[in-house]
Amino acid sequence: MQKISIDISKTGSFIAPGDVKKLEGDVLACEQKLHDGTGAGNDFLGWLNLPSSITATELKSIKDTAARLSANSEIVVVVGIGGSYLGARAVIDALNDSFDFLRTNRKAPVVLYAGQNIGEDYTYELLDLLKDKTFSVVVISKSGTTTEPAIAFRVLKELLEKKHDTAGVKERIVAITDESKGALRTLADREGYQTYVIPDNVGGRFSVLTPVGLLPIAVAGFDIDKLVEGARDMEKATAPGASFDENPTNIYAAVRNLLYRSGKTTEILVNYHPKLHFLAEWWKQLYGESEGKEHKGIFPAAVDFTTDLHSMGQWIQEGERNIFETVISIENPKYKVQVPNDKDDLDKLNYIAGKRVDEVNKMAELGTLVAHVDGGVPNIRISVPELNEYFLGQLIYFFEKACGISGYVLGVNPFDQPGVEAYKSNMFALLGKPGFEKETEAIRKKL
Ligand code: PA5
Repeated sequence: MQKISIDISKTGSFIAPGDVKKLEGDVLACEQKLHDGTGAGNDFLGWLNLPSSITATELKSIKDTAARLSANSEIVVVVGIGGSYLGARAVIDALNDSFDFLRTNRKAPVVLYAGQNIGEDYTYELLDLLKDKTFSVVVISKSGTTTEPAIAFRVLKELLEKKHDTAGVKERIVAITDESKGALRTLADREGYQTYVIPDNVGGRFSVLTPVGLLPIAVAGFDIDKLVEGARDMEKATAPGASFDENPTNIYAAVRNLLYRSGKTTEILVNYHPKLHFLAEWWKQLYGESEGKEHKGIFPAAVDFTTDLHSMGQWIQEGERNIFETVISIENPKYKVQVPNDKDDLDKLNYIAGKRVDEVNKMAELGTLVAHVDGGVPNIRISVPELNEYFLGQLIYFFEKACGISGYVLGVNPFDQPGVEAYKSNMFALLGKPGFEKETEAIRKKL
């Protein structure tokens, strides 16, 4: 099996020799805790065996639903936020043609997103666009009560109701939510929407390999069997018993914790492939929500290179030395474009004429690696043979498993998110939600 690989050789001068080996016992104990279900948050470990437990029948049902939605929609709007949004967008953006939305020969509907913000103009513009289009909605909320997607779903449902009769609306809505509780479950059951379940033991940010991610990805026309196959192969490759040195999840968890302990408190996920922007957003949520607790945790940041070398490059090269980089390097691009020769050579680029654009990109990557390491920034490199469903599946499972282990090594519960409630209760109080009267008074005094 060809797989993604990790190179930590450019962290060597920042970590004392032998330190990775010294942490091996701790990391293996944390991995064991994850598999035994004896660590904190052990009621949220359903993601660990998702790739090997999802059945062909479940995958077929998702593909059939995707085909049904695609048949009657120019646009499918995926409504969700956080873990109910980022995984699908990460994969779809990574695989989509960059100019997909302008292509006229599309084989799949355009996937748009709503409920991931509360921007009024965004909402207006989306509704304005949809009023003259055929569209369906996939609404995703585990709790079924999250404000952002609930508002978006209300307005989209209202628009569907203006355009179709009851049966037509029902045909165009799929809800992905809790098996038995929450407002969305109640509504879906009452209206007879088709539904998929987010398992109780899978938290939002670990849910991309459930219908939460798989349905939108299938709607966008991508091969979810291959995605799951990649994840399954990574599940096997990182199963307990794999040699520590050859298990990329353990190595990543060990090295990032060692760097953190040496004062490198920010990790920057770097890509040289613009399609990976949302993969980094997904990764930021995964690590940020899992590790940022009890006043501990590596701050997860991300940049798109070479674009951001012209903005954040200065800071990374010479700013405060509390950062390390994890680079996702795609070995082979899908297409071929060469730099043309030019008879006038005014831009003095003829010395690279005939080279692939990707070769220039790779030299930028290597040049940056050396410059940043020389400048005091340790570098972890994750090589991905190609940007396709199979390797994205591997990458997703790799990051999820490493996150669980890393959180335990850090000493936190990686599977809860108590800190995200604070803003919500303040917002409810300010909006005058019944039951929040006492908080309203208290918060107004602070403003
Ligand atoms: O990872 C998480 O748990 C969160 O990001 C949730 O996914 C996000 O808040 C959305 O929650 P829900 O699916 O309940 O609407």
